[in-house]
Amino acid sequence: MGINMSVEGDHGLHDFFTQDHRRLDSLFNQFKEGDPPSDIDVLHEFARGLIQHIIWEEEFLFPVFEEVTGMVTEGPIALMRQDHHTIQELLYELLMQTRSGKVDPTLPLRLEGLLLQHNLAEENVLYEAVESMIAPESRVELLQILSEEPELDLERWIEGVTEIAHD
Ligand SMILES: [Fe+2]
Ligand SMILES: [Fe+2]
Repeated sequence: MGINMSVEGDHGLHDFFTQDHRRLDSLFNQFKEGDPPSDIDVLHEFARGLIQHIIWEEEFLFPVFEEVTGMVTEGPIALMRQDHHTIQELLYELLMQTRSGKVDPTLPLRLEGLLLQHNLAEENVLYEAVESMIAPESRVELLQILSEEPELDLERWIEGVTEIAHD
């Protein structure tokens, strides 16, 4: 059709991560709308996507902001990392409870509430900031890396969390 709307636009990273939030929101909604929320396959897909999303942010986005601003132990990224920690704790608990067949109904709500405010902070401030700190070539290269990433191994992640919890 002539005009090529590629991901290499001015807000490539912002759009990529925001769209991933939407995709994860809709998977989580699909899971919660189950009655009782028990669709384990949907939860597994949500969990794989959410953990991968967090890893991408911590591996590729946050270090850019920290390096440019010098803010590491304090500031917005420290708060985002704290959120990620809590999000993963809640997610792990939700996976374990769903697998055992008994889910505390407040657990999905707590995770939803935290994700809502966390994602808004990233979309309104952080993604734009990081976007402006990365050269266009590196941005295209990074989007390429993210799109080629193989699917996360959820069982290995669960094993890792279990080992830490039992140390
Ligand atoms: Fe995040
Ligand atoms: Fe995010």
